[in-house]
Amino acid sequence: MGLSDIRGVPTSTDSQKALDLLEVALDQALAIRGDPVAVIDEALEAAPDFVLGYCIRAEFRLLTTERSGVPLAARDVEMAEALTGAANDRERGHIAAIRAWLEGDLEKAVERWEAVLLDYPRDLMAVFAAHNTDFFLGEAPQMRDRLSRALRAWDADTPGYGYVLGMYGFSLEEAGDFVRGEEYGRMAVELNPKDVYAIHAVAHVMEMQGRQEDGIAWMTGRQDDWAVDCGFSIHLWWHTAMYHLDLGQYDRVFEIYENGIRKSADGISLEELDAASMLWRLNLLGVDVSGRWDELADKWEPSAEDTYYAFNDMHAMMAFAGAGRDMAAAKLLAATASYVTERGGTNAQMTKDVGIPLCRALLAFSREDYGQTVDLLLPIRYKSNVFGGSYAQRDVIALTLIEAALRAGQFKLAHALLAERTAVKETSPMTWKLMGRALDGLGDKPHADDARTKAEDLLAGVHPITPVNTGLRSDPVFIPGGCLL
Ligand SMILES: [Fe+2]
Repeated sequence: MGLSDIRGVPTSTDSQKALDLLEVALDQALAIRGDPVAVIDEALEAAPDFVLGYCIRAEFRLLTTERSGVPLAARDVEMAEALTGAANDRERGHIAAIRAWLEGDLEKAVERWEAVLLDYPRDLMAVFAAHNTDFFLGEAPQMRDRLSRALRAWDADTPGYGYVLGMYGFSLEEAGDFVRGEEYGRMAVELNPKDVYAIHAVAHVMEMQGRQEDGIAWMTGRQDDWAVDCGFSIHLWWHTAMYHLDLGQYDRVFEIYENGIRKSADGISLEELDAASMLWRLNLLGVDVSGRWDELADKWEPSAEDTYYAFNDMHAMMAFAGAGRDMAAAKLLAATASYVTERGGTNAQMTKDVGIPLCRALLAFSREDYGQTVDLLLPIRYKSNVFGGSYAQRDVIALTLIEAALRAGQFKLAHALLAERTAVKETSPMTWKLMGRALDGLGDKPHADDARTKAEDLLAGVHPITPVNTGLRSDPVFIPGGCLL
């Protein structure tokens, strides 16, 4: 009993309309456009016993990593469980994954989706959910290998193939295989120029390789494909601004901030992660961001105690520290401490291991206690991947550590950290300028001048931008210095 979906994966529903709508929702979710939850609502109206519909709606909600989605996801999975008698093994696998997530065990959730994928590697939602959760867990090799395993059952005729290629491209990039990451990302974009996740995969490769001009050309050349009616546009604007930031083009960064990054409605959403991260980077570089912190902190404040995912907490703390909101910062720290003592599970561990030290470090930096910032960040710099996010996003941690070391007068440390950084991102003018400051601090004016000249030459195009790290890293998890973690 039950119809199979368009990839031949069985479901327990007899409603073709529900399955057709499910495909629309999946396409919207993977394209990061439209309102896939609303489409599933419609499918469930058409078929109230559509078990997979409840599962997928729950998964969409959980994957936002916003606490507000949790009770709704819990209700969905209860509906699905009430129909378990009619569910097939694939659907029961999804239910088990959602239950594991709701119990706070993200690793177990991934195991459950992987079990589904062993039997049904063409289950696009299981691929998507596991991929995203690997990302939240900072598990780059697993993220890469999971896609490799699933792709054994996919080919160009399988609906959704391009999306899987895009996910694979991003996974390869995060695992350090920049060459193949770019290849797969470009392949997916060729199949579908509006595949924003694949566009994003290539953008990440260019960020990691310090190909700022390539990145700007890549993003601006296909702006119409990602900047209009797309839920990912803010993050893609952030990536575009990152290239300009490295080139010291702060006017352009502010222009993008105002028109691309800072445009979400009142109230917090994940879009504010990018805003906080960009303002913090500008602050580190000594660029005045004027009243922008207050506006952002106003958005974060109502959810100061809603700790649910340590990676988001770090960005909330940036806003509070940047705006000087001591009360909100204290509330956030208290909430994270309670979470660790009262709750178990994946996020409690992430929060304990890296979330809390990071939040304290950001606060110390904003209070000009740079020595404490260094002390807090040094022990966790190689562990920060455990709370997810991309290498490019977590690079803000390395930049904060370097700037704190410089401001604390710890020039030997700053110089050493910058040596690591130039080794993996030789074409970053921002990095060479920082190197100049470290060498100045050490009293080595000739080499400081050399470093500044290198930055100026890069900006003037005197040195061709030929990245040094174009291939697979020997250990996908390890980047020298963790500076790009
Ligand atoms: Fe990204």
